[in-house]
Amino acid sequence: MSLLELDGVKVHFPVKKGILFDRTVGHVYAVDGISLKVEAGQTYGLVGESGCGKTTLGRAVLRLVDVTDGSVVLDGTDVAKLPEKELRSFRRRLQMVFQDPLGSLNPRQNIESILSEGMAAHGIGANQEERREKIREILAKVGLPANSLSRYPHEFSGGQRQRIGIARALVLEPDLIICDEPVSALDVSIQAQVINLLEELQESMGLTYLVIAHDLAVVRHISDVIGVMYLGSLVEEAPSDTLYEEPLHPYTRALMSAVPVPDPEVEERRERILLHGDLPSPANPPAGCRFHTRCPWAQDRCGKERPELTDAGGGHKVACHFTREIQDGTLRPAGDTEAVVIPAQAEAPAAESEPDATASDAPESAEAPESDEAPESDEAPEADEAPEAEDAPESKDASEGK
Ligand SMILES: Nc1ncnc2c1ncn2[C@@H]1O[C@H](COP(=O)(O)OP(=O)(O)OP(=O)(O)O)[C@@H](O)[C@H]1O
Ligand code: SF4
Ligand SMILES: [Mg+2]
Repeated sequence: MSLLELDGVKVHFPVKKGILFDRTVGHVYAVDGISLKVEAGQTYGLVGESGCGKTTLGRAVLRLVDVTDGSVVLDGTDVAKLPEKELRSFRRRLQMVFQDPLGSLNPRQNIESILSEGMAAHGIGANQEERREKIREILAKVGLPANSLSRYPHEFSGGQRQRIGIARALVLEPDLIICDEPVSALDVSIQAQVINLLEELQESMGLTYLVIAHDLAVVRHISDVIGVMYLGSLVEEAPSDTLYEEPLHPYTRALMSAVPVPDPEVEERRERILLHGDLPSPANPPAGCRFHTRCPWAQDRCGKERPELTDAGGGHKVACHFTREIQDGTLRPAGDTEAVVIPAQAEAPAAESEPDATASDAPESAEAPESDEAPESDEAPEADEAPEAEDAPESKDASEGK
């Protein structure tokens, strides 16, 4: 049995209308039937463009939103059915690292207080001295100096604050950590350090992650398995290398084709699949294949029948009626749309190529200098700019195949 098993998970938010009486006039189908498994000690990367339901799925696993249908089973226990009282203690086993490290840390609490709060609530450590000892140990593991204990969140840089967020999850000894866009609020130069830190911690502590990102480059190296989400559903799932070597679903191919390749020769030949149109509203999803309104290969059948996620061989799952025909070239993309495969134009590498490019040599730099130095020397200027960085249009566009 896998550590985490989701089976047919749906989260539908009611849309209410009315002055005196709230009437339900529809639903937002944020998550609409997702099944996946996360193995212990591994990382499952979940990618998809903004609004496709990634965060809602993460929140459903933690039961921060009610699950409309389906089951969320962690280590044999169905989280969706746990009574409130048991859920409270069970939550220790599921921790989340958030996108915005500053917003998720109480500015009035020092680091010791932030980290020991959850420990005390869950009965970890017999007394404050024991908790402090454990916090010191974890702070060292995430590359923060021991004197951080008495300092406040604003005294740290963006990257350091994300390390505090990771430490806050780790002190509770969780079984699974959900990292929701763990680096998208950080400066590009810091992103690789945080991703490397997550990988190192996984190796040394045997952690299991569900990493959520809109950016394929962020999940690529850290993930064992990647699931691609589109409008509330998984459209493709495969071991990380397989997905990158041979993306099968048209949406994944479009996402991939938007990621610049560091090798100039390969980059020269890189093809782009341009999708037109935005993600349709999850309150009014298209019938049939949800991607058919944007898919260059769409046929009549696609607007009528919704394809199931099925194994195309070797654990590579795809939800498309025409996987084989697209793969062997017997079905061609429509020629009168922008979506025709065209050679890429020379373009500046987008933000998301950076973590890959620096991934192999960043670990040392991630920890060493930061420990004794003032936060300013790490990445202070970025701290105040974090909110803008998070919304940087280039990074989203490039990963969205627009
Ligand atoms: N509490 C809620 N009530 C109603 N609709 C909601 C609620 N939470 C999320 N939604 C809607 O569900 C859809 C999925 O949202 P979600 O935040 O899960 O997307 P996401 O993939 O995490 O996007 P992003 O990459 O921008 O974070 C969106 O259309 C959003 O507006
Ligand atoms: S089922 Fe049809 S519309 Fe959907 S991805 Fe496949 S070809 Fe495109
Ligand atoms: Mg989100």
